[in-house]
Amino acid sequence: MLMNKENSVADVKRVRLPDLEAQKRRGEKIAMLTAYDYTMARLLDRAGIDLILVGDSLGMVVLGYETTLPVTLDAMVHHTRAVSRGVARALVVADMPFLTYQLSIDEALRNAGRLIQEGGAAAVKIEGGGASVGVAARLVEAGIPVMGHLGLLPQHVHQLGGFRQQARLEADAEQLLADALALEEAGAFAVVLESIPASVATGVTADLQIPTIGIGAGPDCDGQVLVSYDMLGLSPDAVPPFVRRYADLGEQTVAAAKAYADDVRAGRFPAAGRRTEADLVGAEK
Ligand code: KIV
Repeated sequence: MLMNKENSVADVKRVRLPDLEAQKRRGEKIAMLTAYDYTMARLLDRAGIDLILVGDSLGMVVLGYETTLPVTLDAMVHHTRAVSRGVARALVVADMPFLTYQLSIDEALRNAGRLIQEGGAAAVKIEGGGASVGVAARLVEAGIPVMGHLGLLPQHVHQLGGFRQQARLEADAEQLLADALALEEAGAFAVVLESIPASVATGVTADLQIPTIGIGAGPDCDGQVLVSYDMLGLSPDAVPPFVRRYADLGEQTVAAAKAYADDVRAGRFPAAGRRTEADLVGAEK
């Protein structure tokens, strides 16, 4: 198991799957955020975030693609490993990227296995109902915890015609509930509900034993998830309207970098007479 300075194995109780269902039963909300690297994972873990998602939103917020579709399994394993190294308490969930669980159940199992064995994740997330329900059942049977993801499915962005709210029609809302119940039946431990009307999410949350985690799905879900870069003000592009900004780290970073560049150019950094890191290294020799 991994440790960091603030959270050591000795003093931290890890979040486990049964804790999440117990939180739902007690009416305690679950807090989830995305992370893609060691440093951010450490900070979010220190903050007491329950679930850390290594989302394939990696493709958009970190790698600069327009969709999540170009994200590869190797990239997800690489980033999941970094996140796992930074976490002592939270439960780490890794997204299975596009076409890593749709080709065959055997391939899905092998690919999910890499995120667990090589990445150090405790669970994987897959999008959709239908065929994904059978995949979830097989992964769970093999001992791999699965989180479902319904509503707006970013891996279906071209079919959906963009990142727009789903399940607005009654028939679609009924299908979504049926998919959620099927995922629960297949053994999924939680379901993300993305960009659906709050009333639909309220109904699904009431009908499931397992927790729902909402993103743009209203206040009644058992937990909430946001893309960390969006809520920290780090995303350069427009963020979805349901995002609340808790910080403006993007602007703070630009201001700090500008101040540094000004100091370097004006000869104020490093300060004369002050010992720098390089001086200290030299002094030890
Ligand atoms: O990839 C991601 O960040 C996600 C969240 C939006 C739930 O799937």
